[in-house]
Amino acid sequence: MKLLLQQAPRVNRLIRNFSYQDYLLKIAKAEKKRKYCKHNFDHGLTVARIAYAYLLEQDETCLEKEIIYVTALLHDIGRWVEYRTGEDHARASAALAQPLLEESGFNPEEIKTIIKAIAEHSKHSSENLSVLGRSLALADNWARDCRSCKAKDGCYKFTEEMEQIIF
Ligand SMILES: [Fe+2]
Ligand SMILES: [Fe+2]
Repeated sequence: MKLLLQQAPRVNRLIRNFSYQDYLLKIAKAEKKRKYCKHNFDHGLTVARIAYAYLLEQDETCLEKEIIYVTALLHDIGRWVEYRTGEDHARASAALAQPLLEESGFNPEEIKTIIKAIAEHSKHSSENLSVLGRSLALADNWARDCRSCKAKDGCYKFTEEMEQIIF
């Protein structure tokens, strides 16, 4: 059987974008001594894979795979802004994402959906979120392994639920 791999041209355009790479560098520098989870490319990709699996299971097939991946890869891109100015990183990420999405070739309607989900991602998944926003909020937590984490006592995200496997 021939293996058919799907192309993701717009996501690949994003990850080659100079500003995107620069923001990741800024985050890496700011988080050099951070004892809690970092917000690097790996985190974005893990969230993308988990959110995609979750949405497949929910039968949310109207959302294109590229939309899910690009949203996850951008959801924390404004972390460095929060470290510098105190602005909420979900809002900062949504603002920084707009031109990056335009440059990557996403259309205005897609951008609206993506920006909304990025802005929602730090809310609790039980709130009234968009489908994509909820998948991000859930995947963001499921992407973390808290069981062996030495910093969990002071972590704002940590709950006992985070140490369990929950479907
Ligand atoms: Fe976040
Ligand atoms: Fe995150």
